[in-house]
Amino acid sequence: MRLRLAGAVLLSAAAYYVYLPLPSGVSEPWKLMLLDALFRSFLQASDAAHSLGVCHRVHLLNQVVSWVEVIEARSCAAVHVTDSTLGGVPTRVFQPKEGKQLKRGVLYFHGGGWALGSGRMRSYDRLCRKMAEDLDAVIMSVDYRLAPEAVFPDQYHDALAASRAFLSSQVLERYGIDPHRVCVSGDSAGGNLAAAVAQELSLDDTLTVKFKAQALIYPVLQALDFYTPSYQQNQAVPILYRPIMARFWLQYLGADSSLEPLLLANNHSSLDQPAISASARSKLDWTALLPPKRRKHFRPVVKETGSPGVMGEVPELMDVRAAPLLAEQGVLGRTPKAYVMTCEFDVLRDDGLMYVRRLQDAGVAVTSDHYEDGFHGCMVFAFLPMMSSVGQRSMNNYIHWLDQNL
Ligand SMILES: *[C@@H]1O[C@H](CO)[C@@H](O)[C@H](O)[C@H]1NC(C)=O
Repeated sequence: MRLRLAGAVLLSAAAYYVYLPLPSGVSEPWKLMLLDALFRSFLQASDAAHSLGVCHRVHLLNQVVSWVEVIEARSCAAVHVTDSTLGGVPTRVFQPKEGKQLKRGVLYFHGGGWALGSGRMRSYDRLCRKMAEDLDAVIMSVDYRLAPEAVFPDQYHDALAASRAFLSSQVLERYGIDPHRVCVSGDSAGGNLAAAVAQELSLDDTLTVKFKAQALIYPVLQALDFYTPSYQQNQAVPILYRPIMARFWLQYLGADSSLEPLLLANNHSSLDQPAISASARSKLDWTALLPPKRRKHFRPVVKETGSPGVMGEVPELMDVRAAPLLAEQGVLGRTPKAYVMTCEFDVLRDDGLMYVRRLQDAGVAVTSDHYEDGFHGCMVFAFLPMMSSVGQRSMNNYIHWLDQNL
């Protein structure tokens, strides 16, 4: 009896911890709640260790991720898997054993707020393995350096160095990759790096091989407006809460974390910031760039006066290599055809949708793949035990797009 009572109490405590009111329409809410509870307990444990002075919270998180998630490079019947380097950057390579002599190639950047994750994690390993097999393509998954040790532009430079090496004739020949059929891709912060690299390399006339496509999965593309309709609508939707994204940005840009409330107030993009021109503002003016269906009833939050010193302190907020949405139309127009995946229940939805619109305006062929029941991270958590139907669907459609367009 006492045991049963204790069990009931524990169970309700667990349910209370896990339970989170979610917007109706999100795919399989209980799975998302479980995923969120898992993330929250990791975050809380690492926050506790951080405040006790045991170690930096990001280190602990990465430690846990390594123990639980990082797996050896293991080949399987269909795919040869090895750990190598690309332009000096650690990279896991997935090569199909059979199939065509000359293969398509995809360079992939994992997500994790420029601070977490690895291409050697189970989830990314599986994704790339599946891509290699389904597409009969060589997939290279890059382990760029992470914050807080490395800050912008380190991650970007690693991504660029890996990309240049990937497109070199030595690497293409060595792995039997067709130079006319190569793509750059990534999710979340990795989508940010993929977009930034695609812009930079499109402008480089010395390159003989260029990316044929860019595939961006719920990418992060700007840090000037934390009140886009999707930031407003999804601020409390797991797993990427609005303050967490602001924290990731500050960490990536090497700025002080005490600036978080300022960013969350849009004080850094107030009208009294001389560093932000009208033309820069127009590049993320969602009142013009988003369709009414996504703007809904939300209103812009633009401060007349804010914290003008911040742009001097963190000029990287305006750096197009960190925030690819700030690119000029002429630059966007030279980038390869694009696939952009966005999820309704994601603070980053409008970063992606604005980029879709700006690429289209620049004359780039874009496939905008939007998931009405999707949430941030759903494609990568498309494996057991968190396998959600939207995760499966989005992964299949992403791979299908690559198959048709690469
Ligand atoms: C935002 O700017 C206003 C006006 O300068 C200031 O009063 C307020 O304290 C700032 N908020 C934050 C969170 O820094």
